[in-house]
Amino acid sequence: MAREKVVLAYSGGLDTSVAIRWLADEEDLDVITLAVDVGQGKYLADVKEKALAVGAVESLVADVAEEFAREFVTKALAANALYEGKYPLVSSLSRPLIAKCLVEAAHEHDAAYVAHGCTGKGNDQVRFEVSIAALDPEIEVLAPARDWDMTRDDSIEYAKRHNIPVPITKENPYSIDDNLWGRTIECGVLEDPWTEPPNDAFELTVAAEDAPDEPQYVVVGFEGGVPVSIGGEKMSLVDLVDKMAEIGGAHGFGRVDMIENRLVGIKSREVYEVPGALALIKAHSALEDLTLERDLLHYKAGVDAKYAELVYYGLWYSPLKEALDGFIATTQPAVTGEVRLKFYKGGCSVVGRRSDASLYDYDLATYEPADTFSHDSARGFIELFGLPVKVWSKKRKGQ
Ligand code: ARG
Repeated sequence: MAREKVVLAYSGGLDTSVAIRWLADEEDLDVITLAVDVGQGKYLADVKEKALAVGAVESLVADVAEEFAREFVTKALAANALYEGKYPLVSSLSRPLIAKCLVEAAHEHDAAYVAHGCTGKGNDQVRFEVSIAALDPEIEVLAPARDWDMTRDDSIEYAKRHNIPVPITKENPYSIDDNLWGRTIECGVLEDPWTEPPNDAFELTVAAEDAPDEPQYVVVGFEGGVPVSIGGEKMSLVDLVDKMAEIGGAHGFGRVDMIENRLVGIKSREVYEVPGALALIKAHSALEDLTLERDLLHYKAGVDAKYAELVYYGLWYSPLKEALDGFIATTQPAVTGEVRLKFYKGGCSVVGRRSDASLYDYDLATYEPADTFSHDSARGFIELFGLPVKVWSKKRKGQ
């Protein structure tokens, strides 16, 4: 009888490489690996051969970088999505799309199972499994790296025993995840929250002290909340995000070092390189400041925070997330215009913004003679606005 099939999400890293062998040997399955290119394509060069060498019967690569940009990055950006105000959701954002590719591949190849290489301590297992369940509630998920209960050293040992190439070395001790929206770095010395991340942890950004002594100005153009040009030059979203990351990284901008609250209850020390994502979120939110009416802007900030939390928690495919997408979409047409960023020595500041949809009214704002603001009305406004406090204060003072 033919063996049953499993489609395994494959990155070429340690855990997923070990998983191939484990699923074949211990679970007696034909393993089809699926590497999903969400913009980290350059790292996937030999992933196909690698999977076959380790024991996969078939090795698929799905290039969905463009879909990732269009369907995921634009939505995260429209929501200025930062988990705990700091982390632009890099891995959280790719998992739902990888889950979708997995489920589609399983259907196509008649596989009874899908599998991922996440351990039991992280958020990614939750994101994969909740997304998979939302897309196909019937399919069975295997999580060998979690269920075999091996430590990182055990996995390395297992890999060596089975001649699986191990990418982890003393020189390269980190666990990395990357995609178009940035790069995550964990493990090694980073597990001590007091230790400064060493320079060898970084790939996309130079140290601020090594950045050029001259600032660089960059104008980003937006249409309906989506960035469409840099310095007046139109480009695809994938190219634009890459370019933004390149500029920011060269100026030492975009490193995040934080203590993060994982969904599974652990506080962890996380290091990120997210120059493109952070610069674009800064620019996008600056344009919202200019173009969104006050109450909407304030309310949306709460929606944005909730949105980031939902996505971080693995609830991309959920009714609340979809409803919030609807809300956010209604706010974005006005977010059209240009933002001027200044990169300098590890920093990125917004130094200019303009838009045809701008709600900034010079005549209202100015202190010059052009002023049209009604100073008289201010007196009456304050009278009524402050009335409840006045009444309360009189009462308290027993008058
Ligand atoms: N802490 C981040 C998150 O939960 C990064 C996770 C990185 N994942 C990985 N498999 N290396 O989104």
